Amino acid sequence: MNIMVSMFLLPLLSFALAPAIFPMPAHYQPEAGTCQGPFSLQLDQHLSGQDQGRLKAAAGLAFETKGTTPAKLEINPDIKGNEAYNLDITPKGIEIEASNPKGLYWGLQTLRQMRTTEGFPCAEIEDAPTFAWRSVLLDVGRHFETPAFVKHFLDVMSIYKFNVLHWHLTEDQGWRIEIKSHPELTRIGAWRTEADGSRYGGFYTQDEIKDIVAYAAARNIMIIPEIEMPGHCSSAVASDPILGCTKAQIKVPTTWGVFEDVYCAGRESTFKFLDDVLSEVVKLFPSPYIHIGGDEVPIAHWKACPDCQARIQSEHLKDVYGLESYFIQRIQKMLKAKGKEIIGWDEIMKGGLAKGAVVEIWNGQSLAETALDQGSQVLLAPASNCYLDRQPNDLTMEQVYSYDPTSEITKPGGILGIEAPLWSEHITSDNCMAMFLPRGLAISEIAWSNPHKDYQSFEDRVRRHEAFMKANGIDYGPEGKAIFTYSVSSDPSKGVCDLNGKLGMEDMELKYTTDGSAPTADSASSTGNIEWPVGKTLEVAPFRNGKPVQPAAVFATERHLALGKQVTFLTQPSKRYAGTGPQGLVDGLFGSGDFHDGIWQGWDGNNLVASVDLGEPTNINEIGLHCLQQTGSWILMPKVVRYEVSDDGTNWRPYGQVPSMVKDTDLAPTLSWFTAKGAVTARYVKVTAMNYGVLPEWHLGAGDKAFIFADELRVR
Ligand code: ACM
Ligand code: ZN
Repeated sequence: MNIMVSMFLLPLLSFALAPAIFPMPAHYQPEAGTCQGPFSLQLDQHLSGQDQGRLKAAAGLAFETKGTTPAKLEINPDIKGNEAYNLDITPKGIEIEASNPKGLYWGLQTLRQMRTTEGFPCAEIEDAPTFAWRSVLLDVGRHFETPAFVKHFLDVMSIYKFNVLHWHLTEDQGWRIEIKSHPELTRIGAWRTEADGSRYGGFYTQDEIKDIVAYAAARNIMIIPEIEMPGHCSSAVASDPILGCTKAQIKVPTTWGVFEDVYCAGRESTFKFLDDVLSEVVKLFPSPYIHIGGDEVPIAHWKACPDCQARIQSEHLKDVYGLESYFIQRIQKMLKAKGKEIIGWDEIMKGGLAKGAVVEIWNGQSLAETALDQGSQVLLAPASNCYLDRQPNDLTMEQVYSYDPTSEITKPGGILGIEAPLWSEHITSDNCMAMFLPRGLAISEIAWSNPHKDYQSFEDRVRRHEAFMKANGIDYGPEGKAIFTYSVSSDPSKGVCDLNGKLGMEDMELKYTTDGSAPTADSASSTGNIEWPVGKTLEVAPFRNGKPVQPAAVFATERHLALGKQVTFLTQPSKRYAGTGPQGLVDGLFGSGDFHDGIWQGWDGNNLVASVDLGEPTNINEIGLHCLQQTGSWILMPKVVRYEVSDDGTNWRPYGQVPSMVKDTDLAPTLSWFTAKGAVTARYVKVTAMNYGVLPEWHLGAGDKAFIFADELRVR
């Protein structure tokens, strides 16, 4: 191509391509030419000193300010809309106009993303959001994030014009906010003892919270704290057992799920406690709203609690569901008296709400209309499209982008906004950004402009935006693929295990160890396949740019006396959960807490009966069966596991039996060895694990048969 042609063609090409700005401005009119700095920043003198400081800092991230090209930030009351702005870029200079400092700040974020090595492409932009709230939920309860990480996250949110951080500060697995009148909440509730004995936790002091709230405000972001009730509060009940119906001392849970230790709704002391907590919370957060959770409330304890039953009587409530509504309405009144409105998950609208409540929709878009009909406003976060803690292969960027917040809604005026929750069962600072972005760009655009969807053009802009993210230290993850998936297998005849891993991005690699240490950038590297000896534990994590992109997966193995010996199933597992077959029971490879990991096998309603031929008379000191309980998935521990031994495989003598030590009502996924001990010599071992049987009345699947899940029969 000769120079003349390319000179004409290049501007035409850039003309045709929509700019890679997220969210895309409502009106973008490209003009010829570019505007070059360095600039001289001219701030409207009507702005307060504080606003001038904030805007100067934001401008400093967008362009070089020690020059002569004028960059004017002007207050213009004629620009309609709280966050609206006009941005004019001509070869002579830049001008941003807005009716208030918020709009000027957003204009600078747009500008920041437009910068090229040649300067800023000339354009006329008129922009304003469709929805007032553009929110992200950060769950620091299950995994704690440091103040430094939260600030980094706020920096990234503000680039994409997110203006609400829904800060999920209390959960079953951790209480993360200092409450001066109840120091036990952070002394006890902020810490948990993991299965390996290590302590995990952390919390924010009130000074740290004030600092983060101010940091967010300087970036146009309102922080709405969530203090969960009446469920998801095991960490509080662990701190002070009187808060729960049974008054039993519990531990801060270490696993995920829905837990039964909810606040007692009968005793006045519970409401006194919540009043103490909320009195401190409302002083720390200037937002007019406090999120009170309200989702997933198990009612088992309320049914059995004399105090809760007495409350049902005295308040003339119908049942425990009436008690749930009483609880929410009472908290709504309590917060109204403190000058705040409540937000709660969509379960809170079941019993009716007083005016002013905001309902956050997560169980399905159709519930939004129900909430609007009741006179509430809605924040939309349906799990089907917005839950960014779902792996990017499970919820693709295209599925997120396809979400239409106004669908199934006849009164869209009641939609406050859209939220992307990042629940943190499987999210830590390692993978948080990779889960948030680039799908968060789709949320930002739906929430800002709810555009007429053209996915191809959106995806094309995302591609061209990657350079901006890289240049600004913003991590992002794969699209349409999980960050890291794998299958593992064991070959006892060779004494080795194999991991077959697939990585979500080309520039990722696996880093791994087999010496019990956590993988680092200096550990051994692989692009997918790893072989390691049975007897060692593999720890493996995907890395990108020398940093882990998600926490390490850990595969424990053991060389034991039954390893690779001949197994006979005397009862058959379900075809759906056939795992690795009879030999999988003695392959030395232990399953994880994920019953879909391919290592577990499931017996549906029947007992597990299997025998193993050790090949020759063997001195045995211990026999164990490794089982999983996940009550919510119909998987219960066997009632009892019996072992027998034999010299000929025909005449059996008892070896030992072990009852389950795990409560059936414990909803947390639990792994347990059923271990019997005693010195004998025998060639054959038989295991009989007695199925739990029919699920009881309190179970969602009452009347269905329970599964037994087992992954290893170990002989030592
Ligand atoms: C929720 O996902 N339980 C709100
Ligand atoms: Zn109670």
